[in-house]
Amino acid sequence: MRALKILVGCETSGIVRDAFNAAGHDAWSCDLLPSDTGSNRHILGDVRDVMMSDDFDMLAVMHPPCTRLCNSGVRWLTTPPPGRTRDEMWRDLDTGAALFSAVWNVAHIPMIAVENPIMHKHAKARIENYQPFSQSIQPWQFGTDPNGPDNERKRTCLWLRNLPNLTPTGTLDGTTARDSVHKASPGVDRWKARSKFFPGIAAAMADQWGAHGMTYISQRAA
Ligand SMILES: C[S@@+](CC[C@H](N)C(=O)[O-])C[C@H]1O[C@@H](n2cnc3c(N)ncnc32)[C@H](O)[C@@H]1O
Repeated sequence: MRALKILVGCETSGIVRDAFNAAGHDAWSCDLLPSDTGSNRHILGDVRDVMMSDDFDMLAVMHPPCTRLCNSGVRWLTTPPPGRTRDEMWRDLDTGAALFSAVWNVAHIPMIAVENPIMHKHAKARIENYQPFSQSIQPWQFGTDPNGPDNERKRTCLWLRNLPNLTPTGTLDGTTARDSVHKASPGVDRWKARSKFFPGIAAAMADQWGAHGMTYISQRAA
């Protein structure tokens, strides 16, 4: 059985890419920005172009820019943040929804996962073929060490096509989960701290989606 060819879009950290590669797959990340680690398995470019450039088995977008799509930011559409206009906010919403639509509806990649927070109604209305998310998970559900990086609270929704919901792999119960994502201090890198991904979820994706994907691809080929 061959390994899966996987594109992880909108990722500079390489956390999801490296988890799939550690599980024996052929995974690549891509982003408009360079890799955080200088990895040679990172493609600099727009995910919408890169996803058309090869026969990927799986596209995982973790996660596209979500500030204008997510429920927590809906207030900016009526009262924009200082220095921004209302028109700019609605334009950003259109841009974010177009990117989500493009990756969610790509036809030639059989398995697709897109991660995003809860969306507001204006975002849902703009997304082509919008469907409710498949599942919502918390990083602490995939952690075993109370002091480890997974013991965090950050509701994460997954939109899945031809992929199963993830089964939690952790032993924590959420009572000691930290809230550092929401409490990230203001500053130029705040968005980066807030959008960072979690190794426990990434390992579960590689393990569970990797195994599912191998069976799925070989059944399609038979
Ligand atoms: C919210 S961050 C996600 C960070 C990711 N969770 C990680 O661990 O690296 C969104 C990322 O999407 C990238 N991005 C935005 N538009 C993109 C596009 N059209 N194609 C590829 N990457 C894009 C941004 O540069 C940014 O790195």
